[in-house]
Amino acid sequence: MTSDTRKGRLIVLSNRLPKGDVPAGGLIFALHEALSGAGGIWIGSADPTETADDTLTPIGSGAYDRFTFSLTEAEHAGFYLGYSNAVLWPLFHHRSDLMEITGDDFDAYAAVNARVARALAAMLRPDDTIWIHDYHFLMVASELRKLGVGNRIGLFLHIPFPNVTDVLALPQANLLAGWLAAHDLVGLQAQRDVSAAFDVLRQDGEVQILNDGTWIRAGRIFAIRSFPIGIDAEGFAKTAAAAPTPELLLDPRAPLLIGVDRLDYSKGLVHRFEAFGEYLARRSDPHMRPTFLQIAPVSRENVAAYQDIREELERASGSINGAHADLDWTPIRYVRHHVDRDRIAGLYRRADVALVTPLADGMNLVAKEFVAAQDVTDPGVLVLSHFAGAAEQMEAALQINPFDQGSFAEAIDRALTMSLEERIERNDALRKGVFEQDIAWWTQTFLNRLSSASISYDGGAEV
Ligand code: G6P
Repeated sequence: MTSDTRKGRLIVLSNRLPKGDVPAGGLIFALHEALSGAGGIWIGSADPTETADDTLTPIGSGAYDRFTFSLTEAEHAGFYLGYSNAVLWPLFHHRSDLMEITGDDFDAYAAVNARVARALAAMLRPDDTIWIHDYHFLMVASELRKLGVGNRIGLFLHIPFPNVTDVLALPQANLLAGWLAAHDLVGLQAQRDVSAAFDVLRQDGEVQILNDGTWIRAGRIFAIRSFPIGIDAEGFAKTAAAAPTPELLLDPRAPLLIGVDRLDYSKGLVHRFEAFGEYLARRSDPHMRPTFLQIAPVSRENVAAYQDIREELERASGSINGAHADLDWTPIRYVRHHVDRDRIAGLYRRADVALVTPLADGMNLVAKEFVAAQDVTDPGVLVLSHFAGAAEQMEAALQINPFDQGSFAEAIDRALTMSLEERIERNDALRKGVFEQDIAWWTQTFLNRLSSASISYDGGAEV
């Protein structure tokens, strides 16, 4: 990647970091790319241990150095499973009904954020830039400011921003504006997230918007803008083109739909299965016997809401297959284990339709990967939820409302019967955006904006 305009080292903080090989996609891959080009330091969490302290442990060096911060089992439970994934995650995905609020979890979150801030402060040089990622570390910047750190600090939130009314469900709602204001730049995925953040800030008596659209709180100016994350489009397209034909035990002409998601209630998997069931019940061509392959590796299994969604999904796939399957046809293939990215790239290329239909999602990189993986002369169709951040950029997708089962089912029918001409036209338009606004574009745009002397406002988005 080409260099950005920043001076000094880049220090990246994210809860996860590669402890061995770097996975070929997602958030970790994006940060790996950024650091490989720019050099610097990447800090992430260690596996929980019995005791924890403020020191950082080096775990590898190369184009950049990696360190972990320590945390105890109790802190892992409170900081990661509790406040991060059973409070902030549901809240920011508009599911405050799923929040599990306890004071102890917030205390663990605050303690881990403060410890990470102390460890970071101890290694800082004056011209270092700090780039914090995601909801696990909303308090790190304000802790750093308390320690007197004046360095540039950016935050990128990979998930949606909650609405004003969602935020009322957070016991710490009155602290949120102060946490955000401690950064110089807060990056969000979509313009709708920027609007939501602006609404939340307007409720705070201590924050004011300036004429240029930046914000001021207690004498500090900060900016909030959207920077939609991209993928390594070239690399993924090559991987997909080179991938061997997937062994699916399917007639090569049989229609294939695909979905790939972490098993999470925000992904709308039950709605998706039910819409596919409705499509099967009233499809325009009753001889069409498509297979829908859903890959959904389990995640965050110790959080109750994840156990519930897993059971619901098993029930839905069982009942839809029970209603429609035949001796030689299983309509839904539901795979819960991890599948290698190379194989997934090949599956995207083989698939006729991708169902990317979350109920709430920061961006959703599957939508972009599916497009990059297509054969441009005979591409598949992307069915995309309005509620994925990607919908703002990917207007040429077949966009659907996942809550409206009937129209979702019709969209599946339309996708499976779409003419080659329309498929090519839509794919060409989508491909252009995916290749132009790729991962290198995202990294450079964010870092250049963060390092610019005056963070000014010209519409709230980089697109
Ligand atoms: C989302 C979040 C990431 C997180 C990932 C996997 O993409 O934005 O911060 O790392 O999910 O979740 P996990 O809890 O397994 O790290």
